[in-house]
Amino acid sequence: MHIYLDNAATTPMDPEVAKAMSEVIANCYGNPSAQHAIGRNAKGIMEMARRKIAELINAKPSEIIFTAGGTEADNIAIRCAVYDLGVKHIITSPIEHHAVLNTATELHEKGLAEMHLVSINEKGEVDLNNLEQLAAKYPGSLITLMHANNEIGTLLDLKKVSEIAKRYNCLFHSDTVQTMGHYKIDVEELGLDFLVCSAHKFNGPKGSGFLFLKNTHKIKPIITGGGQEKNLRAGTENFYGIVGLAKALEISNAIIPEKQKRLQALKSLMRDLIISEIPGVDFNGPAETDKSLYTVLNVSLPPNPSGDMLLFKLDIEGVCASGGSACSSGASKGSHVLAAIHHPDNRTGVRFSFGKYTTEEDIRFAVEKLKKVVLE
Ligand SMILES: Cc1ncc(COP(=O)(O)O)c(C=O)c1O
Repeated sequence: MHIYLDNAATTPMDPEVAKAMSEVIANCYGNPSAQHAIGRNAKGIMEMARRKIAELINAKPSEIIFTAGGTEADNIAIRCAVYDLGVKHIITSPIEHHAVLNTATELHEKGLAEMHLVSINEKGEVDLNNLEQLAAKYPGSLITLMHANNEIGTLLDLKKVSEIAKRYNCLFHSDTVQTMGHYKIDVEELGLDFLVCSAHKFNGPKGSGFLFLKNTHKIKPIITGGGQEKNLRAGTENFYGIVGLAKALEISNAIIPEKQKRLQALKSLMRDLIISEIPGVDFNGPAETDKSLYTVLNVSLPPNPSGDMLLFKLDIEGVCASGGSACSSGASKGSHVLAAIHHPDNRTGVRFSFGKYTTEEDIRFAVEKLKKVVLE
């Protein structure tokens, strides 16, 4: 039996989502692009999913482009801002997800846009004065900053960044993969140009997500082929995944206040228990609840002879957690986020991340095992 505290990497599927998907898998095989009744039926279901999603984030259905998740949506937003919308400068931070950082770096290295990194502090918070200076120096840039950091949970004030972007005629893209379904997001109120979503972070299917693209921006497809998604993303749509995505977002958004309250309490409990059980422990990211994602607690463990083997030992003890970002754990290169906030090399960062199925027993079990592997 394993306790699962790696919900920022992915989440288990909600049975209601699996049920909605099973129904269409069993009964709906039409290609949404086909003109006949079977195809039109699939198209109708897909468009209902699009409308539902648009309603949930206060967008127009035509502003939702289905993708194979967050990475693809980030790529489309950043690349198209440069290829099609005249962007010559990209302002981003050193702690973005690699979907953003590697894309911006590639465009920079190819001489297509210049990348500028905004200053951050040791909690991973963006220096808004520095952001404003960069935006003033490079008006018309793309600002791409994540809503919440997937490793240390630092939250960004989207409204403030959006105001800066508007003052200097910049476009604003936010990687909202870790906050969609966990916080209420209203694109109209926030004034975003692009945001992204990945269903598997809120109990939906893997490989299904979307890009919100403000419909005043005219872009060309990155993946070329057929005319799907209004000619913006070729390829037969992941129809079953789209049904699961809409269902998962609907369920998640409906429970945000209770979920936030419960998980925030579990996060505080875990923090308090760890402080009382493990001497010399610290935490990465802000401590204030309104400045940190309630689903992530990143623990900085004091120097230990086991080093990064601590995570492996935790796994043996039945606790699934992560060190740094699970998205690139295969590369085992160490965390660029912890490096950017100057986390000491001799300490190990362990990310525990919570989801709607996390219980108090899970937290108590994990702390007991953490104490065992750290102190033994
Ligand atoms: C902040 C952030 N952006 C993007 C992604 C990539 O999303 P996907 O797995 O859907 O490609 C992740 C996944 O961990 C993430 O945490």
